[in-house]
Amino acid sequence: MKATVTAMLTSQNQGYAIALQSHDVSIVGLGFVGLSTAVSFAKLGMKVAGIDIDNNKVSMISKGFAPFHEPGIKELLEATRKQFKVSTNMQLVRNSPLIFITVGTPSKEDGSIDIRFLIAASKAIGSAIRGSNYPLIVVKSTVTPGTLMNVVVPEIERASGMSYGKDFGACSNPEFLREGRAIQDTLHPDRLIIGGSEKDANLLKSFYEKLYGKGMPRTIIASTYNAELIKYANNSFLAMKISFMNQIACICEKLPGGDVQVIAEGIGLDERIGKLFLGAGSGFGGSCFPKDIKALMHFSKRLGYSPPIVEATMKVNEDQPLRVVKMAEEKLGSLEGKKIAVLGLAFKPHTDDMREAVSVKIVEELLRKRANVSAHDPKALKNASLVFGDKIELVGDLNKCLKSADCAILVTEWDEYSKLEPDYFRSLMRKPIVIDGRRLFDPRRFSEQLEFAAIGLGNSVSPGIVRAK
Ligand code: UGA
Repeated sequence: MKATVTAMLTSQNQGYAIALQSHDVSIVGLGFVGLSTAVSFAKLGMKVAGIDIDNNKVSMISKGFAPFHEPGIKELLEATRKQFKVSTNMQLVRNSPLIFITVGTPSKEDGSIDIRFLIAASKAIGSAIRGSNYPLIVVKSTVTPGTLMNVVVPEIERASGMSYGKDFGACSNPEFLREGRAIQDTLHPDRLIIGGSEKDANLLKSFYEKLYGKGMPRTIIASTYNAELIKYANNSFLAMKISFMNQIACICEKLPGGDVQVIAEGIGLDERIGKLFLGAGSGFGGSCFPKDIKALMHFSKRLGYSPPIVEATMKVNEDQPLRVVKMAEEKLGSLEGKKIAVLGLAFKPHTDDMREAVSVKIVEELLRKRANVSAHDPKALKNASLVFGDKIELVGDLNKCLKSADCAILVTEWDEYSKLEPDYFRSLMRKPIVIDGRRLFDPRRFSEQLEFAAIGLGNSVSPGIVRAK
């Protein structure tokens, strides 16, 4: 679809309209969500202005480089050069009828979210939109219920001298992008959640109808509080599925021939459960699940309720990464002075993101046990060096990582590791012991050919195991 400077988006129900102008949309905050959204909207034909306070980031993006690794983003930056302008100057938002806020909301010590960047962005947007004609401010950042109405809207009213509902509109519109698939998720979202007054929600919905055309996904229009809570419920539910399976994994490990992957296949066929996010492993990490669960716990405690399942989801996840270290100890005895090869450091494949990566907990525990750690990752070595410094050996060459190792621990399930054969480990390692923290390797072949342990795998693998078809 192609938007033009004269395109009109007319809300079917209300007859309100947004005239798309020189910049159809502005995106404030060019982190992972903001930049992925910006280039995807530009790809779909919108003229996009991206604003960030970070000079370096803006200069990098304007030269066509993304500040992080994300499949497809570099190509889209190249393809959308004419459609997508970046700047540190907030005045650029003046030209946009739609202003998306995508700034980060990191965790504070107590688990609550730090809304400093959101407040600063709201103030700056407020000053920039003074006198403009009913701009719609859309918060995509993950924020606890009430933040749009109680923080963002009052800040904008103060800075702009304008009145919410009369001079400008505001919506909550949480995003569900996954790192590593952010572009696909933005180009083809499975749903849209829009929170706001009827007038504002319909304005935003009509923008998306124009953007996605026939690909318009199912849309839920809700109150701003419910829209904000949907995001937290969504991430906590997915994380709960993972922690639940990690508990079943612990049971499987005590069961002769037990195999959590077979259990996942079995229960995943029940449509009420679904087959996704049943992957047991070393636990969940990343910039979203841990942060959002902590924020939900903190937020609900403030309301006078402690959600036990949400708390347990986090508790299971805290212990889970250490299980692979325990497995290594069971095989090797003391880890002191032993060379442990860690395969994968990013919090998941297809990203270089190390935020809350379980690899950090695993490596720290290995170092506490005085092991010598050599680690490999196809993309995250640069970010890993900021985390580990020279405490461990970081290598881009997998042979070097495994050479003379006493044990290898698979932490991130990169595609290239899935092709590794038992022979390969045997040819390089001093002791061919492999611990699979992500259930990537075939347990039968690996158990037959070397010393093998895996999350959710009972100990008498060879004779007992029958894989699901
Ligand atoms: C997550 C959600 O999936 C997105 O919908 C959401 O928009 C995003 O958070 C966000 O709030 O911004 P993301 O953090 O990119 O996306 O990563 P996921 O693919 O959800 O994986 C999160 C963690 O769970 C990873 O560490 C992954 O290894 C782990 N995981 C995932 C498992 O341990 N088992 C599984 O079966 C699936």
